[in-house]
Amino acid sequence: MNEATNVSQAASPQDAPDDLARMAWLVEELNRHIYNYHVLDAPTIPDAEYDKLFRELQALEERYPQAVSIDSPTSRVGAAPIPEFSQVTHALPMLSLNNGFSDEDIDNFDRRVREGLDVTSAAQVDYSAELKFDGLAISLRFENGVFVQAATRGDGYTGEDVSANIRTVRVIPLRLHGENIPTVLEVRGEVLMFKEDFARLNQRQRDAGQKEFANPRNAAAGSLRQLDARITAERKLRFFAYGIGVLEGADMPATHSGRLAWFEGLGLPVSKERAVVTGSAGMLDYFRQIGQKRPSLPYEIDGVVYKVNRIADQAELGFVSRAPRFALAHKFPAEEALTTVQTIDVQVGRTGAITPVARLAPVSVGGVTVTNATLHNEDEVRRKDVRVGDTVVVRRAGDVIPEVLSVVLERRPTPAPPVYTLPATCPVCGSHVVREEGEAVARCSGGLSCAAQRKEALRHFAGRRMMDIEGLGDRYIDSLVEASLVHSVADLYRLNLDDLLAMKRVADERDGTTPETVKNGKVATKWAENLLAAIEASKRPPLERLLFALGIRHVGESTAKTLADWLGTLALVRRAPEPLLRVLPDIGGTVAEAIADFFAEPKNQQALDALLAAGVAPQGEHAPRAALRERLDEVALLAAAGIPKLTEPRARQLLDGRTLDELAHLRVFSVFGLPEALVASLEDWMGRDGHRASLEALGALRKELLDQLPQDAAGSDGPLAGQTFVLTGTLPTMSRDQAGAMIEALGGKVSGSVSKKTSYVVAGAEAGSKLAKAESLGVTVLDEAGLLAVLERAGQPT
Ligand code: IVH
Repeated sequence: MNEATNVSQAASPQDAPDDLARMAWLVEELNRHIYNYHVLDAPTIPDAEYDKLFRELQALEERYPQAVSIDSPTSRVGAAPIPEFSQVTHALPMLSLNNGFSDEDIDNFDRRVREGLDVTSAAQVDYSAELKFDGLAISLRFENGVFVQAATRGDGYTGEDVSANIRTVRVIPLRLHGENIPTVLEVRGEVLMFKEDFARLNQRQRDAGQKEFANPRNAAAGSLRQLDARITAERKLRFFAYGIGVLEGADMPATHSGRLAWFEGLGLPVSKERAVVTGSAGMLDYFRQIGQKRPSLPYEIDGVVYKVNRIADQAELGFVSRAPRFALAHKFPAEEALTTVQTIDVQVGRTGAITPVARLAPVSVGGVTVTNATLHNEDEVRRKDVRVGDTVVVRRAGDVIPEVLSVVLERRPTPAPPVYTLPATCPVCGSHVVREEGEAVARCSGGLSCAAQRKEALRHFAGRRMMDIEGLGDRYIDSLVEASLVHSVADLYRLNLDDLLAMKRVADERDGTTPETVKNGKVATKWAENLLAAIEASKRPPLERLLFALGIRHVGESTAKTLADWLGTLALVRRAPEPLLRVLPDIGGTVAEAIADFFAEPKNQQALDALLAAGVAPQGEHAPRAALRERLDEVALLAAAGIPKLTEPRARQLLDGRTLDELAHLRVFSVFGLPEALVASLEDWMGRDGHRASLEALGALRKELLDQLPQDAAGSDGPLAGQTFVLTGTLPTMSRDQAGAMIEALGGKVSGSVSKKTSYVVAGAEAGSKLAKAESLGVTVLDEAGLLAVLERAGQPT
């Protein structure tokens, strides 16, 4: 057993005969394990056992909500989002430190301290020497040992209340350990993110197509300042204590080093890399030692801090303006260097994210030779205006990828090199590079065919909720790609027994797991036969699963289902133009564009053809849904065509009895009484490549679909056959699309406009003219509850 397990003596379960005592015991027990695991890095319980106890506590807390303890570990999962942080005034301001850089600066600091303390020139002063953590300052308030509030530094006098976020930081105790607990203790310290956790977070951001953080400090700041503490809970933040704000009801140790040791006993994390040193020689020695250790520390530091160790001496020295006279930050020199950009390449990430990278004339930055530096994304290159041939400032911060900080414009060659633009095609596979509006990241649209993305695509494709190929795990997928046995998903269906055995040899050799039996010439084949059978069995997926499996950006399970439900066949989905997709329920502009982009890419179409040729055939295809007729309204389609400034009312005005096809051939738009800006926009749009043709094609596809669809969207059966509903306004619990689907499922018809023939108008919040019209025509108006009643009655067997 580890020493720290004694810090909070756990009660035993026998002492807890009833539920409330059991709850108290669980809180204490779980907090003890959290401390051992996260602070001491010495787990005292298997994960599964911890989870079991945690769930037991959750269940009890649900039963006895009034008895939930303020330091319950269940509060660490993150509270519900808040609209904004409230302000906290610091009882003692959070000041900053003066900086020193050279040996001379340190000598001067030591001299000033000795002068201030009136120490004879022979005597030396002791200093507490510690790390200068590169994170964010925070003040934690404990009352009677219980964590009650956390505040950021802010302007030093008032900060923001980030208590809910801090609760999720496992290394921070929710209750202080030990006996001699102060009534009030404000602990000052630094919140930071370890390099390793930072790398993992950025990997996740990349995978999710989200912005990466520039460095661990930004990541820690971004994570702490989340209004949704559940997000903070997913990011692994750490904390080190380094000072005291307020202390009441306990004696304070007389030295700074004593305070830090006392903190440790209270269960607060304090860095081990601290020392008590004497005089400027001691400080400089510590600085050099830490400088050597710096690269191997798991977190980033930007220097060290020296503090006069005796608290009485600190008080005597006091403060000057906003910094203490008794402390100094000794900063490492910034790791920056000048070099030239030889060329700018792009790297393709796992999800196709394209990152521009500057290839540099080799240069030593802080002792490490740098030849590449990230330019992050297109906007960053533009902002910094980095061009090939430029002299640039590169910075390397700890483990973080070196980055180009700025351009030395005076050294730009003449004539000036051209402004950098991202390549239009992927350097790995040649597919188009696309960048969505509002996104910083540009992506290779190659999807399934791009080598950089292949493994991930295969993983997704074979997943349980997609094609569900049992037994095809990550390890085999990697080997299949590495052994060049699989280039696209269709290749999976061409694998034979020999291929799989070859794949396994690659995997075993790579992982050093070649079984003895294989070495002796015996090869097990049962698993391979099973895998082949699983691959074969995946050939008949429902259409929505196949669509989901393709890995189209923004297309999850529910969008895939909408596409399958409404369009019915793969053939139609793969040629559906963006405006048609946009008029489908719950598919917005971004999603429609992603789908259309995916299928516009010839390589994706080829990959799909290859799948079909390999025998993959979606099951249960059907004609488009009858209700599609309503959605094929020309005005709605035109408004969804992506013509800037063209709203639905303007689209109506413009069409005015014309077909899309006729519109596509119009030359003059200034005759419809449309605003000038819109006319200009129309002329511009129509003048662009392929736009007229796409409008024409849209009109043709519309006609084709209408011919296939039954005349009456409602069909002739169902208990609501012959009844027409108009939905307007926002319903309290369901979307209009959901309500519409329920009506149609019972044979009712949903229409966009109110007439005397309308059976019901279903009105939600902010219903406008349609509600007024219904009232004037005397049509029955229902709210959501009324609609549900009608549906329920209709749905009941008669
Ligand atoms: S003591 C009265 N100790 O550096 C000064 N600060 O420039 C209290 N920092 O905002 C600060 N490591 O966020 C102190 N060991 C350390 C530190 C440290 C990092 C940060 C802190 C503060 C800034 C001051």
